[in-house]
Amino acid sequence: MSFKQVIPAPARLNRCELAVPGSNTKLFEKAAKSAADVIFLDLEDAVAPDDKPQARKNIVQALHDVDWGNKILSVRINGLDTHYMYRDVVDVVEAAGDKLDLVMVPKVGTAADLYAVDMLLTQIETAKGFKKRIGIEAIIETALGMQNIDEIAASTPRLESLHFGVADYAASTRARTVGIGGPNPMYGVLTDKDGDRPRDFHWGDMWHYAISRMVVAARANGLRPIDGPFGDFSDADGYRAQANRAAILGCEGKWAIHPSQIPLANDVFTPSEAEVTKARRILEAMAEAQAKGQGAVALDGRLIDIASIRQAEAIVRQAEAIARG
Ligand code: GLV
Ligand code: MG
Repeated sequence: MSFKQVIPAPARLNRCELAVPGSNTKLFEKAAKSAADVIFLDLEDAVAPDDKPQARKNIVQALHDVDWGNKILSVRINGLDTHYMYRDVVDVVEAAGDKLDLVMVPKVGTAADLYAVDMLLTQIETAKGFKKRIGIEAIIETALGMQNIDEIAASTPRLESLHFGVADYAASTRARTVGIGGPNPMYGVLTDKDGDRPRDFHWGDMWHYAISRMVVAARANGLRPIDGPFGDFSDADGYRAQANRAAILGCEGKWAIHPSQIPLANDVFTPSEAEVTKARRILEAMAEAQAKGQGAVALDGRLIDIASIRQAEAIVRQAEAIARG
């Protein structure tokens, strides 16, 4: 390990993060009773410009009046390039900041963006005497944000998670797609010509780089990497495939933009019994090996060594955190 210690963000379950428009009050109670770990009440892109003042009021009222149980609550403010953003922070956090766990900042482009939000939150928390420090979730969804992701990830101790906003990222990078997440039939490779053998076209994951890049920046700074939306809520298999590949790459959760996606995210981001059993067996086998002074042994015909302990511990720790709820 490096001498530099990576300080982990406060431990929170973040398997499913449910998006709820702040303008749609009918959805608040349902969201509170859902199985999502985190809920973000949206003031940004799901809310039309004229509805923003009312959406702020709805959110303040709901933060006070709805029984949210043990939900982790976030509010997505508008981007720093808009004139809505300062009111989002001031109105909502002043009136209900003690009920909020997180503020979600969209389209973060530089570390200074989060510096500004941090400054505002600090002033409001101090003025209001709030005891709990509000955390920040940053959406990486622009070319600028992706370029500066390392400095963003290291910018403030309030920051807890990085989120991949695939729709805005596609727009910002001018990717030739209009879907929200998911693969594109044009993105793939054709197998080489090989005599008369038929050639195969293999679809690729056009978001692979972005998600991997975000996972690295997040993990290097002790943050949770979270995959963003998948727009086709009638395609459960498609959602599951996208969630699985994010989980395999190291993401801890994924957004749900529809209630039907909540159980899918929870299922994918909860390590399966088989994975946990295997991880525990690795820990047992390595404990035995180490007691005998060995650094590596065979388990089920495969080599495991001291790195396997760290891999297995990550799975067991996540399973234990989920069991604690
Ligand atoms: C989320 O905000 C996205 O743009 O995908
Ligand atoms: Mg977006």
